[in-house]
Amino acid sequence: RHIDWSPLMAEKGGFRHFMLKEIFEQPRAVQDTMAGRLLEEEGNVYLEDLGLTDAEMAGFSRICIVACGTSWHAGLVGKFLLEELCRISVEVDIASEFRYRNPVVSSGTLLLAISQSGETADTLAAVREAHGKGAKAIAICNVVDSSIAREADGVVYTHAGLEIGVASTKAFVTQLVAISLFALRFGRATGAISRERGIELTSSLLHLPAFIEEALQLDTAVESIARRYHNSSDFLYLGRGYSYPIALEGALKLKEISYIHAEGYPAGEMKHGPIALIDENMPVVMLVLRDRHYEKVVSNMEEVIARGGRVIALCSAGDSETAQKAEAVLELPSCAEIVAPIILSIPLQLLAYHVSVLKGNDVDQPRNLAKSVTVE
Ligand code: G6P
Repeated sequence: RHIDWSPLMAEKGGFRHFMLKEIFEQPRAVQDTMAGRLLEEEGNVYLEDLGLTDAEMAGFSRICIVACGTSWHAGLVGKFLLEELCRISVEVDIASEFRYRNPVVSSGTLLLAISQSGETADTLAAVREAHGKGAKAIAICNVVDSSIAREADGVVYTHAGLEIGVASTKAFVTQLVAISLFALRFGRATGAISRERGIELTSSLLHLPAFIEEALQLDTAVESIARRYHNSSDFLYLGRGYSYPIALEGALKLKEISYIHAEGYPAGEMKHGPIALIDENMPVVMLVLRDRHYEKVVSNMEEVIARGGRVIALCSAGDSETAQKAEAVLELPSCAEIVAPIILSIPLQLLAYHVSVLKGNDVDQPRNLAKSVTVE
C-alpha cells in the first residue's frame, strides 16, 4: 500500500494545514503565555520584562494602543478590558493612521504597541513617534528581540510559538491573553483592581485552556455550517461590547482566506446602514452570549430574521431561545466576560478555515497577503 508522506506533513503534525494545527495548538499557546505569570493568591500578575514600576503606571492618565490588522482587533478588546478594569481612558489606533496624524501624546501617555511579528513598519514607526514626543512604549510581541520589542521600553511576550499560517490565530488569541495579564497587572498597580477582584480574574484566566478545548470540539459542527453557507457571496458579523472586535476579526479571517466579502459591525450600528444589505441570501453571524448585551443582541437578531437574513448564532450553552430562532447554532461554554472574546474567536477561526478549504483555496498562503508587512 502506498502512503503519501512528506517532511512538510510531519511538520504539520498530522493536520492538513498549518492554520488548523495552529488553531488546535491554542490551549497550549495560552497555557504557555500564562505560565509562571499568574500570582493566584495575590490576585496579581508577574510580567518579567514589563519595565514599568507601580508608581510609573499610576502616573499615566491615558493609554494609546496602536497596531495593524488582526493585532488592531486585539487592541480593541484591550480598550474594553483596560477601561473596564483599570478605569483609564484608552484610545486604539491603526498604526498607519497614528504615525501620520501628529497625535496628542505626552509623558502622561503610555503607548501600547501590539504586533505578533514585532516587525510591522507602521507599528514600529508609531513607537518612534511616541518616543519622540516623550512617551513610554510597551510592546506585546510574539517574537523575542524583534525590532518593536527592542525599541520599546518594556515587552509582554506572547508565547504562541512560531505561527506559519498567514491568517493569524494562536498569535491573536495569545495577544488577548497578554492584554488581560497586562490589564490585571496595571489595575493592581494603580489600585483600580482589588485583591479579591484580582483573584477572581486570575481564576477565570486559569480556566481558559479547558474552555478552549471545549470550543475546539465544535469543529465538526462548524464544518457542516461551512458546507451550508460557503457559496454565499457576502457575510455579516455582528456583536456588541467585547464581542464587537471579535465580529471584526471573524469577518477579517473569512475575507483573508476564503476571499468572500465579509463585514463586521457593532450590532447596534446595524440599523444605520448594514440592515439595507440583509436579504434571504445574507448569512449573518451573530455573537449573542449571555452577557450584559444579551437582550439587545437578541433584538438585533430578530430584526435580521424579520428581513429574511440567515442567522448563524454563537450563543451560550443552554440558550434554547436563541437556538430556536437562529438557522444554525453553535453553543459555547459559559465563561467569565474577560475570557469570552477568546472563546468566541475559536469557532470563527474554524469557520473561515473550513470555508477556505471548501473553496479550494491556499489556506496557509492566501493570495496577496504577507505574514508580516515590513514596508509601508
Ligand atoms: C499582516 C498579517 C496580519 C497581521 C498584520 C499585523 O497584514 O497578514 O495577519 O495581523 O500584518 O502584523 P503584526 O505582526 O504587526 O501583528
